[in-house]
Amino acid sequence: MDKVIIAIDGQASTGKSTQAKKIALYLDYVYRDSGAYYRAITLYLLDNDIKFDINISDEILNGINIKQTYKNGQFSIYLNDNDVTNRIRGYRVSLNVSNYAKKPEIRKFVFNQLRKSGKSNSLVVDGRDIGTVVFPNANFKFFLVAEPRVRAERRHKQINDNSVKVNVVEEEIKLRDETDSKREIAPLRKAKDAFKIDVSHLTIDQVYNIILKKIKSDYIKN
Ligand code: CDP
Repeated sequence: MDKVIIAIDGQASTGKSTQAKKIALYLDYVYRDSGAYYRAITLYLLDNDIKFDINISDEILNGINIKQTYKNGQFSIYLNDNDVTNRIRGYRVSLNVSNYAKKPEIRKFVFNQLRKSGKSNSLVVDGRDIGTVVFPNANFKFFLVAEPRVRAERRHKQINDNSVKVNVVEEEIKLRDETDSKREIAPLRKAKDAFKIDVSHLTIDQVYNIILKKIKSDYIKN
């Protein structure tokens, strides 16, 4: 039987991964965080002093092995067998990831990893281009948006570090949205057939219920 794919795309810090994990747990599907791949690759390249303005050769990419797991409600990501789950969320990676994510060779690498996962598993995947480019035939597509200030406040709370000002987080988020939306390949945009949800004034549970209701009603229709 064909595997079911659920794509949850949208702007930075709209809670895509929170929703994707909850849905994956509920349906017992595999969860994949596409942004975490870009973040782990960025971390590797920054650590190895490989700048984003050069071509990232196959030789370099072949040296990158990434594994994602989601067990007992805990997401982990391993870069060449090292657990980098926390490091990939740092400010240095956040500030640079969109520049590396623009590169076709890096996108192809992530695309291949996701496609491979989707061959043998039903998936819930969150990202920017999952419903448009990676899985254009996904069975369900969602697109989450929210006001920048709301997103910055939520992310700020999550970072839980008073030395980082909320305005700085807001600027980083806006910059990433802009870079992600304006890039030539796989820009951040809503797929025509994606269901858009503005999460600015909704709780996590309210968004979850909207997504679940939509999946259940579409299942019945089809
Ligand atoms: O969690 P948040 O929404 O802040 O970001 P993320 O999902 O961890 O993604 C980090 C960055 O990776 C994004 O800002 C994009 O530049 C890039 N990305 C992408 O280009 N395509 C994807 N499918 C997922 C992420």
